[in-house]
Amino acid sequence: MIKILFIGDIVGKSARNCIKHYLSSCRSEYDFILANGENAVSGAGMTYPVLKELYSFGIDAVSMGNHTFSKKEILHFIDSEKNLLRPANYPSKVPGFGYTILKKDQKKLLFINLMGRVYMNMLTLDSPFTAFDKILTEVKKDIRAVVIDFHAEATSEKGAMAYYADGKVSAVIGTHTHVQTADERILEKGTAFITDVGMTGPCEGVIGVKKEIIIEKFTLQMPKHNQLSKGANIFNAVSLDIDEQTGRALDIRRINILYEDTL
Ligand code: FE2
Repeated sequence: MIKILFIGDIVGKSARNCIKHYLSSCRSEYDFILANGENAVSGAGMTYPVLKELYSFGIDAVSMGNHTFSKKEILHFIDSEKNLLRPANYPSKVPGFGYTILKKDQKKLLFINLMGRVYMNMLTLDSPFTAFDKILTEVKKDIRAVVIDFHAEATSEKGAMAYYADGKVSAVIGTHTHVQTADERILEKGTAFITDVGMTGPCEGVIGVKKEIIIEKFTLQMPKHNQLSKGANIFNAVSLDIDEQTGRALDIRRINILYEDTL
């Protein structure tokens, strides 16, 4: 059996502290640890020191999304970090990798990052469904365990991707909307699915941002710099058990922990 932990969108420094705390006691329970990290640096983007910090906690691979290039310095290292993923359906000239193959002992995992197009304002993205087909044809071959981070806004698009991929991959994990959905299940042909795994980070604002700023954005339509909210944090993730021989999901469980105190 392959045991995987998938951590929901990491939002800022307090989220990173939660992850460090959580993994310090249970890193050894998992074969692979995956996380969406597109909000890890002050809510948007990735820097080299923060990527290395996430790896130091025991995270094996980090997927991104619409904030992949929010910190321009990522261009200095994205082509040399094979376990830092940007969505595979970006146009082919965009730097970085859309998937990676992780190996530990005799276990292998193909981790793919895809992004939805509905309500994402990403007009030049290729179809995530076509990109999925291409990767499976070209890369999967003898690898049984496959996890997709599908970074998308629309519940319908996420559901469609899950059923499209059912029986071809081990799990489709939705990210981006930051609110954990209570619909985790294993589909008919053996693919685990959750519409959104949720977020890790400050939980008293609006998806991690101070509520006053978001209210002002909605009521006045004025540009405003986002600031992360303070106070309590949540740790959202799912754990996955995957049959090593068939690649079918055996179990998917939600993890939702509240940290009242700042770590
Ligand atoms: Fe996002």
